[in-house]
Formats: sequence, structure tokens, C-alpha cells
Amino acid sequence: MTQSNRDRSNPRWNRRNFLASTVVSTMSVGLLDRPATGAAAPAATNPRDPFKVTAQINGQRHQLSLDVRTTLLDALREHVGLTGTKKGCDHGQCGACTVLLNDRRVLSCLTLAASVDGQQITTIEGLSKPGGALHPMQQAFIDHDAFQCGYCTPGQIVSAVACVKEGHAETDADIREYMSGNLCRCAAYPNIVAAIKQAKSEMT
Ligand code: FES
Ligand code: FES
Repeated sequence: MTQSNRDRSNPRWNRRNFLASTVVSTMSVGLLDRPATGAAAPAATNPRDPFKVTAQINGQRHQLSLDVRTTLLDALREHVGLTGTKKGCDHGQCGACTVLLNDRRVLSCLTLAASVDGQQITTIEGLSKPGGALHPMQQAFIDHDAFQCGYCTPGQIVSAVACVKEGHAETDADIREYMSGNLCRCAAYPNIVAAIKQAKSEMT
């Protein structure tokens, strides 16, 4: 096996370098877009320097200093301490890491934290009321036993809240289609659909 083949067979190498090259490419495009003013070029930024990100997370302002390659998922779990958002596949395939970015659902494992500067993030911890009262979707999941092991549940609930707000919960088929990005290895799907139908009637 050649050196390059060995490197490509290492998923950590691939992911880290994919993120690093994405950030470096983005920064390069930004620099190319700048008009030529004749002024001295600014000192080159080292893409591995810590990057400052400020975001409203569950209504609270957080300022973080992160490696530019940090995903939103890792920022939430490891830097903010919000471990409700789960890491399932870490490859955009399971939906366990779903959070709301300005009320739109996103996969936080595929979102660079550097890209959410100035944005609003809502995680599973931010759905309940300040006094602890559960969101109707959280209560509906309990009422319908819409989980078994519970690992996928935070992502399912956050995604379900957005599904209802998007108007994609009119029929069982709609719910199944628009929740299809959230996998449940325990196959609690019938109960999840029932829970979303209950919560929808309470959210609208
Ligand atoms: S952990 Fe993000 S989609 Fe699986
Ligand atoms: S409840 Fe176990 S994976 Fe969904």
C-alpha cells in the first residue's frame, strides 16, 4: 500500500484534513475577493490559530475560542457542555446531532462552528421552559413511548419541532418523509409519528 493510500484509509485523517482544507479554501476565496488597494497585504492568517465565535445558544450569549476545524456538534458538547445533542455517525447520516440554526434544522456534525458566528442555536436543552416545563413535543414523546434506548431521541425531538413548524406534519406519510433523516435503531417509528401528531395539535 502506498503512503497516500494508507493516509486515505484513515478516517480521522480524512475528516480532519477535509475540514482543514474546507476552511483554508474558504479563507483563500475571501482573500481573492478583496479589491486591490495598493496597501500592504495583511499578515497571513494561520488557519490553525484559535477562532473566536459568538453565538446565542438557547437564548444565552456564548463566546468561544475554537480551532477553526471544530464542528458545531463538538463545540456544543465539549466547549459549552450541552451534551444532550448526540454524536451518532458523525458523518451526516443518522440525524442524532440535529439542532436548530435560526429555527432551521441542521446536522451539527456537518456544520463548522466558525460558520454560526452571530447566529441563534437551539438544542434539546433549550426546548423546555425556564421553569422546567417540557415542550409539547418532549411530553408527546413520553406519552407515546416514542423511544427505547433514547440515543436518537434528542435529534428526533428537535427535528420533529421543525417538521411541525415547516408545515410538514399534515399526514403520517408527510411525517415519515420529513423525518426520514432521523434514524432510530430501535425502530420506534410508529410511536414517533403518533407523538408528532399529538404535539402538532398542541403547537398550532
Ligand atoms: S451524528 Fe450527525 S448525522 Fe449522525
Ligand atoms: S430509541 Fe434507540 S435509537 Fe431511537
